[in-house]
Amino acid sequence: MKNVALTMAALFVSYTLCSLSSAAADEVIAQSEALALFEQRIMPIFRSPQPSSCVQCHLASVDLKNYILPSPEKTFVSLRDQGLIDLTHPEKSKILTLIQMGEKDLERGAKLIHAKTRQAEYEAFLAWIKVCSADAKMRELPRMADADVAKPAKPDAVIRHNRKDRIVDSFVRNVWSQRMRCFPCHTPFELDVVSKQHPKARETHRQFEEKFGQRMNFFKETPEATLRQLITNSRKPAKGHLPVINVEEPAKSLLVLKPLAKVPAKDASGQFEKPSSTEPVTHGGGKKMFADDQTYKSFLTWLQDYSRVVRDGYSSPGDLPPDNWYPTNQVLKLSDAPESWPTLTGVQFSIYAWNSDKAAWEPEPVAFTQGPVTPRHLVFGTLFRLAAKGQSTKLDSQKESLPPGKYLVKAYVDLQHRLTADPLLLLSENDFYGQTEIQAQWREGFPQAQTLSATQLKK
Ligand code: HEC
Ligand code: HEC
Repeated sequence: MKNVALTMAALFVSYTLCSLSSAAADEVIAQSEALALFEQRIMPIFRSPQPSSCVQCHLASVDLKNYILPSPEKTFVSLRDQGLIDLTHPEKSKILTLIQMGEKDLERGAKLIHAKTRQAEYEAFLAWIKVCSADAKMRELPRMADADVAKPAKPDAVIRHNRKDRIVDSFVRNVWSQRMRCFPCHTPFELDVVSKQHPKARETHRQFEEKFGQRMNFFKETPEATLRQLITNSRKPAKGHLPVINVEEPAKSLLVLKPLAKVPAKDASGQFEKPSSTEPVTHGGGKKMFADDQTYKSFLTWLQDYSRVVRDGYSSPGDLPPDNWYPTNQVLKLSDAPESWPTLTGVQFSIYAWNSDKAAWEPEPVAFTQGPVTPRHLVFGTLFRLAAKGQSTKLDSQKESLPPGKYLVKAYVDLQHRLTADPLLLLSENDFYGQTEIQAQWREGFPQAQTLSATQLKK
């Protein structure tokens, strides 16, 4: 097909050249070159079933194809009218900058995988844009109606949200930061660091590894490696296993179902039965999370967002979740939970900072946590800091903490069991129990948790 078009173009050129002045002949040559370049090098990108190099960073919503129309004139005008072509300096065209984005990727592996595709796209567009920009007829084609311009269907905010680096950053904050909850069984790289305090940890890990193999070691050395492995393994789960990350039904991912589940039952001889990796799930490690605790909430928050991104499920900026939780090692401990809060009821805390300039509490909370009521009437929650929407200075994913000072703590109690139906829910005024001011030190870790008694909470 390509060759036919090319031969036709060549025939046309040689035929017409005989009867034309040399200036007109040059123009015909330029036009046919542009046409041939378009057919040979741009259309294959348009028709290819493979994603373009943009997929190196954009998991959904944008592809180089989105900018191509099956006509060279229309494609050129569409790019020109969007400001993606620089007519005087074609090599500085913004569409080329977008294609070259992949060069800046800090992840060498990803950069290499897409290098060939990227280079082919770049050379194709550069050659074609140069020829078109030099052609007065093309340059002067009338403006295209905005509605006809070829571009991604989703708005920029959605395209930005669906980026791989944002998903990784969110994974670091919501999942990776909580991995010590899975120590030592799934965290081979943390064994050295902590084994002085936990001399038995290495042995526990070794025994499980011997019995269940490499699938135990899903927390790798870095968050990127962890995520890559989890995604790859989840595409082809073992027979009779739910995927560790379930893109179809995020709440049915083993990543959350396993730690929510109990150890398997014992058989007649007193041995544990084989753990189940399909519903009802059982977990070799036993129950490590409650549906009402902060770790579950943050795991599920990430899983739902990831699933929606890869399924291209966001349409407008209003659909996007805030994705603004930053982990800390600071813990809030509430004691004296009243009898009216049954064991395992979910309790949420919103923490507000004092603004001394305005002599008032900040209107938006600076931190959030939740936890279930324990049989000893305690509630523990590890704080997540909340970045304000549109905050210009980004918080640090690795080390965020609240400074000591005066804070207002508001407590919400899930007596209506609303969290069961929607684990990501933030409880509202109807669930409000009471609030109190505290002078907090916010030291790190469970043993030094910031304490507060439920008797201090007032409406
Ligand atoms: C190395 C990673 C990377 C590659 C590859 C990449 N982009 Fe992007 N892209 C980004 C980043 C980062 C942003 C967000 C920029 C920001 O927030 O200011 C972005 C944003 C965008 C946006 C939203 C508008 C904007 O300017 O923020 C569009 C449209 C876009 N890219 C198109 C593309 C196209 C088309 C390709 C492939 C030809 C591509 N990108 C390849 C990293 C990349
Ligand atoms: C005390 C040890 C222990 C702890 C702590 C533990 N697990 Fe496990 N986990 C196991 C064992 C043993 C298995 C293998 C048997 C099974 O499938 O249940 C397992 C299996 C899993 C699997 C299945 C992996 C696969 O590919 O099949 C997932 C997912 C998982 N655990 C998640 C977690 C998470 C998340 C945490 C922390 C919040 C956690 N576990 C804490 C012992 C533990």
